[in-house]
Amino acid sequence: MFYILALFFFTPIYNPMAKITYITHDNQKHIIEVQNGLTVMEGAVQNDIPGIDADCGGGMACATCHVYVKEDWFNKLPKKEDGEEDMLDMAFEPKTNSRLSCQIIVSDEIDGLEVSIPSKQA
Ligand code: FES
Repeated sequence: MFYILALFFFTPIYNPMAKITYITHDNQKHIIEVQNGLTVMEGAVQNDIPGIDADCGGGMACATCHVYVKEDWFNKLPKKEDGEEDMLDMAFEPKTNSRLSCQIIVSDEIDGLEVSIPSKQA
């Protein structure tokens, strides 16, 4: 019994994380380990990355989490849903590589993702 309890308490908890790089308007790189299952927006908010306000809390209703995804990552992400496209139409200077960071779920597959935050959100 002691060994089972010892194994439980001393076994490191596997906590998968992915590295996400947030580039702010002043070209500062913030490389953050974000827990899998959170969104890229939640990783920014929890780490006080400037420029991602996330006013609607991830409800796809504000576009204050708008980011530009680095070109070579854009096609590796799951496709946008209609609601995201509609909200991006209202974002500041949307580009072809625009995404709402609240709609990007962190996982091992996006380890190394780089996103830039529009200057208007600074
Ligand atoms: S947090 Fe509001 S749309 Fe993403």
